[in-house]
Amino acid sequence: MGSQPDTAIAIRPYLPEDAEATLRIFERAVSISALSRYTRGQVSAWLGGPRDLATWAADRARVATFVAERGGELAGFIDLAGDGYVDRLFVDPDHGRRGVGRALLQHVEAEARRLKIPILTTHASLVARPVFQASGFTVVYPETVHKDGERLDRFFMRRSL
Ligand SMILES: CC(C)(COP(=O)(O)OP(=O)(O)OC[C@H]1O[C@@H](n2cnc3c(N)ncnc32)[C@H](O)[C@@H]1OP(=O)(O)O)[C@@H](O)C(=O)NCCC(=O)NCCS
Repeated sequence: MGSQPDTAIAIRPYLPEDAEATLRIFERAVSISALSRYTRGQVSAWLGGPRDLATWAADRARVATFVAERGGELAGFIDLAGDGYVDRLFVDPDHGRRGVGRALLQHVEAEARRLKIPILTTHASLVARPVFQASGFTVVYPETVHKDGERLDRFFMRRSL
């Protein structure tokens, strides 16, 4: 029989009507996928309580956000700031490990080249580090942030273009 071809991934710019779906992906990615490397307490601190949709939408307007569609659903999103900082990369657990994160990073890399941004940087979680590494990022230094009494380990990473 052979393996089934995977469902195609399409990347497009974020639209205002994507606010609710991207917020839901963020919440699901942190509360489900991040549990593989963080405790429940750490995940709750990271989520930081319910988010206000209007604030979330305003945040998306301050950066370039791109969304990934897979199988007719919004599967993930990525934020690129004007200085090359990749602020958010989140993929819904239902679409995890299918290349959505990789496709979003490839898209942002092409966008950064187009805008003549020379370096991409990010703060990667323990979960995201291998994904950024697979896309050519290297660790500059590990760091620990403190939120709501929890320690959250992460990595400052960069990639020269
Ligand atoms: C991190 C995250 C965005 C990855 O998205 P994804 O779509 O599942 O990642 P991909 O399928 O594109 O993975 C690309 C490559 O990264 C590497 N990778 C991904 N997950 C990995 C894991 N758990 N362990 C080791 N390598 C991994 C692999 O090389 C993978 O390619 P392969 O599947 O062909 O081997 C997603 O898991 C997520 O949202 N996690 C929770 C929230 C989070 O930590 N976000 C990042 C904040 S900085």
